[in-house]
Amino acid sequence: MDYKIKGKTALVTGAADGCGKAIAEKLGAEGAKVILHDLDSKRYQLKVNAEKIGNGAGYITADLSSTEQIESMWARLGEIDILVNNAGIWPTAYVTEMTSESFKNTLDIDLVAPFLLCKLFVNQRLSNAKKGKIVNMVSQAAFHGSTSGHAHYAAAKAGLVAFTVSLAREVAPNGINVNAVAPGMMRTPMNKSALSEREEQYLERIPLRRIAEPSEVASVVAFLCGCESDYITGATLDVTGGMLMR
Ligand SMILES: NC(=O)c1ccc[n+]([C@@H]2O[C@H](COP(=O)([O-])OP(=O)(O)OC[C@H]3O[C@@H](n4cnc5c(N)ncnc54)[C@H](O)[C@@H]3O)[C@@H](O)[C@H]2O)c1
Repeated sequence: MDYKIKGKTALVTGAADGCGKAIAEKLGAEGAKVILHDLDSKRYQLKVNAEKIGNGAGYITADLSSTEQIESMWARLGEIDILVNNAGIWPTAYVTEMTSESFKNTLDIDLVAPFLLCKLFVNQRLSNAKKGKIVNMVSQAAFHGSTSGHAHYAAAKAGLVAFTVSLAREVAPNGINVNAVAPGMMRTPMNKSALSEREEQYLERIPLRRIAEPSEVASVVAFLCGCESDYITGATLDVTGGMLMR
């Protein structure tokens, strides 16, 4: 499939490893110029990933829990055609033990940061009278809620689904598509220890009976970044092996 994203510039957050790296690789393979973002501590991994992708790929760092760092990163970027809000955290605590600090920090990284980047992106596109594509990474937990101590994460992702729909309505007349992708369980650093402790329990909840490879989610993200999905906006595509059916 030709996604017609050759020559477009894409910013992918959280691209040092896991699904973000796979998305950056897929977009790069489709001919996009990819800017890989992650924390400063992951600078070396970003550099290696960008060099492998080639095609003018670059990298940039910022801590997404900081509004100042997000804004200063944006000021260092040029024009962006495609924004993929992929970075996220998945801390574990049951509500009975959860601190307000952890709840707020999860919302800051998993919801407020995507909002700020969407706002900066949309304002840039509108001021240049250009179309654009946004993909926000959410989760099956946004619809199911968490069963394993991630209520803050589920709340942030559910908020991001509603935000995606609202922004999609707002900017559809300007040709900016805003969609979300909801993975179930992928084999990434985020859930490495959860899978090593209880992979069987997760498999029982997945009709396809296997954990996704990040590349399987990345190809759906790439579809939403390309022209074949021009008529899709405000949608959440579930990539869960059937873990989420609605
Ligand atoms: N792994 C799964 O099974 C799964 C399931 C559903 C949804 N998701 C979502 O998919 C996306 C990618 O997940 P993943 O599994 O690849 O995660 P991951 O932990 O492997 O990668 C996430 C990246 O985000 C970066 N990041 C975290 N906090 C940051 C911050 N404050 N500033 C900048 N960067 C930060 C990390 O450094 C990391 O490289 C996330 O939004 C996650 O919530 C993952």
